[in-house]
Amino acid sequence: MTRLLQVTGPEDPAIREAAAILVAGGLVAFPTETVYGLGADGLNPEAVARIYAAKGRPATNPVILHVADVASGRQMVSRWPETARLLAERFWPGPLTLVLSASEAVPAIVRAGGPTVALRCPAHPVALALIRAVGRPLAAPSANRSQHLSPTLAEHVASSLGEAVDLILDGGPTEAGLESTILDLSGERPRILRPGPISPADLAGFIGPVDLWEGVVQAGDVQPAPGMAERHYAPRARLELVAPGTGLFAAAGQVAYVGLGALPPLPDGVRGVLLPLDAEAVGARLYALLHELDNAGFERILMERPPAGEAWLAVRDRLRRASAKETA
Ligand code: TXA
Ligand code: MG
Repeated sequence: MTRLLQVTGPEDPAIREAAAILVAGGLVAFPTETVYGLGADGLNPEAVARIYAAKGRPATNPVILHVADVASGRQMVSRWPETARLLAERFWPGPLTLVLSASEAVPAIVRAGGPTVALRCPAHPVALALIRAVGRPLAAPSANRSQHLSPTLAEHVASSLGEAVDLILDGGPTEAGLESTILDLSGERPRILRPGPISPADLAGFIGPVDLWEGVVQAGDVQPAPGMAERHYAPRARLELVAPGTGLFAAAGQVAYVGLGALPPLPDGVRGVLLPLDAEAVGARLYALLHELDNAGFERILMERPPAGEAWLAVRDRLRRASAKETA
């Protein structure tokens, strides 16, 4: 069995133990304010290689470096533009990942061989204490098998990665429930590569308008933004997005119907799940709900398409990817 240690706060002795494993080149899953991360010493290429092996992650998909403060982040980049300064001052620690031109300190495997590095300072006391105890940035993708749902509970990590991880720090459910916003500051104009808890309007308030990258990467393409494969964040069950009350005529097999704000009358045998019509609440609950429906053996999940509008951007993005048809 994978070791799972409950951790109550930044002073918990479990953090010392976890740091020792990381310093020795091992893997530790830890809570952040978004989802659980699968951490390794970000400056140790062999340790980072173990992350790729544990996740079954393609070598072309780089990982985020997690830092405890701006000063250590700056050591990882060759340029710290004014936009980065303003945003880090406002949103760090927090769910904002900045892509910047990498310094020579960053191992090639962290960058997947590219010229940039993604940096994030997580707003979770356990994550920050762990990074400080190791004394180096932690490479940490979401702690799930590649292409699967991100974990919002320690149990999700254990069932997805099992023995591949040396220790799981259990800090309870994560707060935001969706991965960080990724903003690319390495090009001419700031560009969102992945929508998340920090919205385009939040960013624009500090640095002016930002582009939103809505491209889709097909298998075999050169990736303008790595890791943006269309099918991603996917449950085992087939997920379909529907207009309220539709899609139920062919409800064969084990079907769940997820309503937003209200539930229509449902045929016998269809399990109804009601979520509030509130983007933040749905974001916080979404992955855990999909995990539960998977574990309960549902084959099809019909979920009401969220409304248009920026508040729902991140939820719509994850649902689009989770419902995309399997390609390769
Ligand atoms: O909230 C989060 O960001 C979580 C927690 C654990 O911090 N981490 C996370 O990592 O979601 P991951 O690896 O599951 O997703 C990171 C995304 C991937 O799609 C990857 O391709 C992209 O960030 N990425 C990493 N480095 C990049 C870079 N240098 N340029 C562009 N994209 C990058
Ligand atoms: Mg991930």
